Amino acid sequence: MTEHTRIAVPEERSLLERAAPRFEFAAPPVPRLPEATVAQPRATVVAPMVAALTASEAPRMAPLSFSGERHPIDRARLRVAGFIVPGEPVTALLEEFRLVKRQLMLTAAESRAGIGVPHGERILIASAHPGEGKTWVAVNLALAIAAEKDNEVLLVDADFAKPSVLSTLGLPGGPGLMDALADPALAVEDCVLGTDVPGLYVLPAGQTTHSDTEFLAAAHAARVLERLSAQSPSRLIIFDSPPVLAASPAAELASIVGQTLVVVRAESTGEAALKDALSLLSGCEDIKLLLNGVQFSPTGRRFGSYYGYGG
Ligand SMILES: Nc1ncnc2c1ncn2[C@@H]1O[C@H](COP(=O)(O)OP(=O)(O)O)[C@@H](O)[C@H]1O
Ligand SMILES: [Mg+2]
Repeated sequence: MTEHTRIAVPEERSLLERAAPRFEFAAPPVPRLPEATVAQPRATVVAPMVAALTASEAPRMAPLSFSGERHPIDRARLRVAGFIVPGEPVTALLEEFRLVKRQLMLTAAESRAGIGVPHGERILIASAHPGEGKTWVAVNLALAIAAEKDNEVLLVDADFAKPSVLSTLGLPGGPGLMDALADPALAVEDCVLGTDVPGLYVLPAGQTTHSDTEFLAAAHAARVLERLSAQSPSRLIIFDSPPVLAASPAAELASIVGQTLVVVRAESTGEAALKDALSLLSGCEDIKLLLNGVQFSPTGRRFGSYYGYGG
């Protein structure tokens, strides 16, 4: 297969499900969501045991523990760029991300129960190349998680060379993850920005160095990451990754998270590039694929219009 072999998008399956068989990818079986659990577009499907997960989500989660100032999220900017907008009515886009979220939360819950991969609460959003939608997915996913009461999410900008989470959300700059990795005297939790969306926290990328990968691999990195979930074991931590084929930190990040969601841009990601990326990410035990920019809908409307690719 060459870089020019494009991915044909099969119909009538969820974004996660449809990506997997296309690449002979050994993903878990993905049954349909029971009708009674959530009213969803019919063709969108989530992971097994959704009912069980919903039950385990029921107890109130631990109180929020990051104490920094809360900054306003720029909702107008999100609206213009077509993201989920906190506080606005439920959209098809939010529904779609809720389904993705549930699958990831299921793995995180198993991990906490000691029956799955370690650190399933740490989720890397990766892709082979720039521009395939990593930040789009990471930000929307974090907003979808925070949109549900009592959920808590920390969105980490880990694209150290080209951070874009802060500008997407309209948040002020400040020290971040790489600074905390490089300077053991800096407490990483002090770099976390609170927002005016309850349950949504953001950790900036910090100053990039020539040794980003080495800092991530150092023993100190493990301690820094432990601190990010220490006071709230139910918190999900989403890492917006650099492009896998362009930057070595992505492979290192894959080895310190429990789950990796690989974004495949429908009709543009090359199959060979995806396979190379998957091989570089193999330090992560649980890799899921997500098709982005798909234009389909069981109702006859094209999801593309929701995603900003109307036509
Ligand atoms: N499904 C989508 N619908 C609308 N815009 C999208 C979608 N996916 C990505 N984008 C936009 O495409 C551009 C590139 O996506 P981005 O998330 O920044 O890529 P990456 O982080 O992989 O470099 C951004 O402007 C983003 O908002
Ligand atoms: Mg990005």
